[in-house]
Amino acid sequence: MTAVESSTRVVLGGTRGGPDVPTLRQDRWWLQPVVTVSVLTAFVIYSTWAAFQNKYYFVGSPVHLVSPFYSPCLASTCVPGSKIGFAFSGWNLSPALLILIFPLGFRLTCYYYRRSYYRAFWWSPPSCAVADAHATYSGETRFPLVMQNLHRYFFFAGLIFNSLLTYDAIDAFRQNGGGVAVTVGTLVLCVNAVLLWAYSLGCHACRHLCGGNVRSFKAHPLRYRFWKFLTPLNAKHMNLAWASLIFVALTDVYVRLVASGALTDYKLF
Ligand code: FES
Repeated sequence: MTAVESSTRVVLGGTRGGPDVPTLRQDRWWLQPVVTVSVLTAFVIYSTWAAFQNKYYFVGSPVHLVSPFYSPCLASTCVPGSKIGFAFSGWNLSPALLILIFPLGFRLTCYYYRRSYYRAFWWSPPSCAVADAHATYSGETRFPLVMQNLHRYFFFAGLIFNSLLTYDAIDAFRQNGGGVAVTVGTLVLCVNAVLLWAYSLGCHACRHLCGGNVRSFKAHPLRYRFWKFLTPLNAKHMNLAWASLIFVALTDVYVRLVASGALTDYKLF
């Protein structure tokens, strides 16, 4: 059989369901879409609120803690100590709005999140063996969904942000006034950085970059090592996507509570 004979033709725009097509499933298939909608909606509401707050994103003592929503802090109005050396002057809105597009774009175009929110929000389809809520299907061939192809570029932007957040985590060991200290906040920033790296390195685009388009790994031992290292993370991509999403919000909550004086950043040693 030749390659042409064995190929399957996918017809975009064909009939594939509709709101009136019943499902035979008796289990609680709707539970997963409901959880996805709830968590993603809660995250979007919280992160939008936090991004517009423009305060309580930096702690200067006993160690330096910066909220991941505000790092890097690029506006000249940033709280002293939270700046990274370069700043846009004349930006009077929240500095979080300057950088939001990059982590947001990375998550929004992630293959796993696409699968989740297409199912949960568009019911396209909501679950296996449950009909699509829409009678036609055009895939990701038109604007705006064709923009999902930008994911590989957002991946590189995500690496820069991960590096900066890792720097923040290391900087959180530096005690105000000199010396090294470990606080609960230090550990929170470290866990956040580790989860973000684990999520990003398990990215499908990253795995393809390392192991794709290779005829034989024998000729590319380094790429093979990377690919071997990333593959288990890729297998856990769904778990890491949720864990890193929830933890990045919790990190902002922690920094916010400490910065506002509602919580003390307990010094461990
Ligand atoms: S596929 Fe999820 S981050 Fe790239």
